[in-house]
Amino acid sequence: MFNFNRRTFLGRSSTSLLGAAAGASLPWSLASRTYAAGWDEAPVDPAKADLIYRTRSPRNGEPKLSKLVENWITPTSQFYIRSHGANPAIVADEFKVSVDGMVEKPLVFSIQELVDKFPKSSVTCTVSCAGIRRYEFIKMKEMKGVPWQEGPIGNAVWSGVRLSDVLKAAGIKPEARHVWFEGADEVVDGKATFPFGGSVPMSKLLEEDEKIPGVLLATHMNGEPLLPDHGAPLRTIVPGYIGARSVKWLRKIVVSDKPSPNHFIADVYKMVYSGSPVEIDETAPIYRYPVNAALCSAEHKDGKADLRGYALPTGRKGCSISKVEVSADGGKSWMDATMGDQVGEFCWQLWTATLAVVNPETVVCVRATDSLGNTMPESVPWNPKGYLYNAWHRVPIKP
Ligand code: MTE
Repeated sequence: MFNFNRRTFLGRSSTSLLGAAAGASLPWSLASRTYAAGWDEAPVDPAKADLIYRTRSPRNGEPKLSKLVENWITPTSQFYIRSHGANPAIVADEFKVSVDGMVEKPLVFSIQELVDKFPKSSVTCTVSCAGIRRYEFIKMKEMKGVPWQEGPIGNAVWSGVRLSDVLKAAGIKPEARHVWFEGADEVVDGKATFPFGGSVPMSKLLEEDEKIPGVLLATHMNGEPLLPDHGAPLRTIVPGYIGARSVKWLRKIVVSDKPSPNHFIADVYKMVYSGSPVEIDETAPIYRYPVNAALCSAEHKDGKADLRGYALPTGRKGCSISKVEVSADGGKSWMDATMGDQVGEFCWQLWTATLAVVNPETVVCVRATDSLGNTMPESVPWNPKGYLYNAWHRVPIKP
């Protein structure tokens, strides 16, 4: 059997941390819900009407930045949507998730069986798309991909059950090294159609502790059943990993000795520079995101600008933002921003700063540093997939 003794989560309580209160009162019984397929038949969910849709087919929307930083916990209505295909048609009562591959005992659960059988668990964490700030790369040189600004990021309370508990019930074979996830959606690429998928190394599960799961199988977001756009009735949430590893509409879990061959881990979410087939094959998938920050709103009063924004640490255990700095002179001098007091290992942190703005041409620069010493660079090289842009955020603000 895979050695679970290396883990520290045995003997933990079933709900955790900030999500504990939400976990206690959740409507765990998932009454019959039918989710319609596609965006052509199903218009934008009114609950998500506020987003700015970069594409509608498939649905890809991000919130207005000033709204995004109003709350440390992002209201579901303001949480970005990133989908590669149409929402699948799902009847939650009939939906099953399977667990097989390198396990002693393959398992199949309905969603209700899953939440009845395993201890409930919650985590507050930030999910962020690897394509965040891609428009900055597009300004340098044209590329394909959703032209995301700073909005495909959000911090939510996710609740469900721990993947580790489910795998323990299935019994993992010693040679297991990766866990694959597959969604129920169908992504169309040219003539090919395939499900969205991904995988995480088993070692990600060894990172978990009493408070924070390595991977959560989430049924709820911010205390309510997941919306279709966010993967109802079941998705993975992988704290500290790029959003692409948090697979929505999860229907298949496979334990293996290698990473998933799914297109979205074998080819797509990789940091490459030439983009040649050999470079793609030789490059490991992206799992983690880099330190990042953005200025999201500037309110002017009496010659001063009140600035607000977010900063994201690198999603490593024990790591948080140590400072956010702002500069009004192109990075020659920097001033520390005031950090919000809501902090979590796998969460963004909000910040504020006040600057005297005398010059109508002022461009504010923002950079964040985390407690591991990672700092946002002044510039980053262009990459053809447009991933992980984290250079200083530069925003012109007029008095
Ligand atoms: N899961 C499925 N099945 N299909 C998808 O297109 N998109 C991924 C991930 N999981 C995706 C998916 C990407 S790239 C991101 S950033 C997150 O979901 C976005 O989650 P959200 O739409 O709930 O914000």
